[in-house]
Amino acid sequence: MLPALETAHLSRHYGAVAAAKNVSLSLAAGETLALLGPSGSGKSTVLRMVAGLERPDTGRVSTSGRDVTRLPPEARNLGLVFQDYALFPHLRVLDNVAYGPRRRGAGRAQAEQQAREALALVGLAELTGRRISELSGGQQQRVALARALAPRPPLLLLDEPLSNLDEQLRAHLRAELRSLFGTLGTAVLLVTHDQREALALADQVALMRAGRVVQVGAAARVFGQPATAWVAEFLGQPNVFARGDQAVLVPESAVVLGEGEAHRITFRQPDEHGETVKATHPLGELTLHLSRREAALIGGGTLRLRLDERQLRQVPDDRAGP
Ligand SMILES: Nc1ncnc2c1ncn2[C@@H]1O[C@H](COP(=O)(O)OP(=O)(O)OP(=O)(O)O)[C@@H](O)[C@H]1O
Ligand SMILES: [Mg+2]
Repeated sequence: MLPALETAHLSRHYGAVAAAKNVSLSLAAGETLALLGPSGSGKSTVLRMVAGLERPDTGRVSTSGRDVTRLPPEARNLGLVFQDYALFPHLRVLDNVAYGPRRRGAGRAQAEQQAREALALVGLAELTGRRISELSGGQQQRVALARALAPRPPLLLLDEPLSNLDEQLRAHLRAELRSLFGTLGTAVLLVTHDQREALALADQVALMRAGRVVQVGAAARVFGQPATAWVAEFLGQPNVFARGDQAVLVPESAVVLGEGEAHRITFRQPDEHGETVKATHPLGELTLHLSRREAALIGGGTLRLRLDERQLRQVPDDRAGP
């Protein structure tokens, strides 16, 4: 089957800033790809080029095998949700959502039917008559999603769709979105700087840094096997140790406690699971998250441990890069 989305060598400059450099991505039908990266790394720029809101300097965008690089957004058959939702506050929920299908030429009755279906999908069937100004932030977020979903586009583009919400609501909607994507079978390109969101929602993750995709692959693989020291640190791995132009990654599973030499503990902090501790090691200072039982192995300010060499990984140390 043709990919739902393919970008080939997309680049875009703003003056001297290279916002996107040679970005090539492929997204299968029904699959979710998360674009993850620090602020300013080019995530939204890529999304806007896919949406047709921004012209690439070079490169191509195709959806389901059709080259859409030169087409305007409305001719691309996709659903879009931006960070600020851009809803019409004075209109009813139903009219906001029916706006999507209407704009694509559906008659009023058909548009309302599609809008009701989409609102039911996001759990807002009861609120169709409310005005946007009478909804909570999370409800507004779902209306924006329903509006993008109503025309049943094969490709959905979401730019930080949960960013305006508090942590509890985010966690809740994250779970809802996951099952919704599964139900719909829509391909989703999701921009986020939240790793939990990427891990919870995405089949594939593409990591962006300074306009480039530095690693792309199955979410579990990217999180489990970062390709470079920068990626490992960005994804929150604490034990990344420089060795010339390479770095050694020490996953916590490689640390065997209660065996090997005694290492001096330089830091201890209780947390909800047990303790976070730091131990001196020839590689560098190891950060460990111990259970209470493991923490009880610390004696006289030292902890016996050895590293399972097979689990250590050597990767290029690109942390000083652009
Ligand atoms: N319209 C514009 N004019 C000039 N520079 C821009 C414009 N849009 C983006 N940029 C620059 O391009 C780079 C990439 O921006 P982009 O919005 O794609 O980043 P992002 O990864 O989405 O960041 P964030 O997580 O903060 O939303 C940044 O350096 C930004 O300042
Ligand atoms: Mg952005």
